[in-house]
Amino acid sequence: MSDDQKLRVSKIRNGTVIDHIAGGQALNVLAILGIDGTDGEPISIVMNAPSDRLGTKDIIKVEGRELSEDELDVLSLVAPAASINIIREYDVVDKHVVHRPEEVIGVLECPNQHCITTESEPVDSHFEVLDEGVRCTYCDTIIREDLAAHILAG
Ligand code: CTP
Repeated sequence: MSDDQKLRVSKIRNGTVIDHIAGGQALNVLAILGIDGTDGEPISIVMNAPSDRLGTKDIIKVEGRELSEDELDVLSLVAPAASINIIREYDVVDKHVVHRPEEVIGVLECPNQHCITTESEPVDSHFEVLDEGVRCTYCDTIIREDLAAHILAG
């Protein structure tokens, strides 16, 4: 990491660092994770930092929380190159990449207003992940682009 990036935000003691997020996607990543800061945990966000590999990248540091691989895999929809670092006592104790999940449940909103998941029924949205997008398993509507615009609010 360049000195320039190190200066932007300090190391954390315990928690999760999500690195190599495509530049500009950090807020979408937080929305997918349902992290809005109201729990009071310290969160640092760097957006559009220079990156050799990605051009620009975003970084998120969530202190005091180790996010699970399953919840982090959903991020691959908006940040496929993201790398996850679990930090304990300042050391990186686990580092892994995100994998495209086979399905995403309760994260995206179906754009079909008549889909059972968007009516006032207690049914979570459920999308199958395809190469070209995601398909609602209830009404077969496919979202092909700008998945971030379909992230369910909190
Ligand atoms: N990090 C942190 N607090 C720590 C340790 C690491 O915030 N106590 C952050 C670093 O700033 C970096 C990420 O976790 O954004 C990964 O750390 P490290 O593996 O040390 O950095 P790199 O070798 O640059 O990672 P990579 O090879 O994944 O680019």
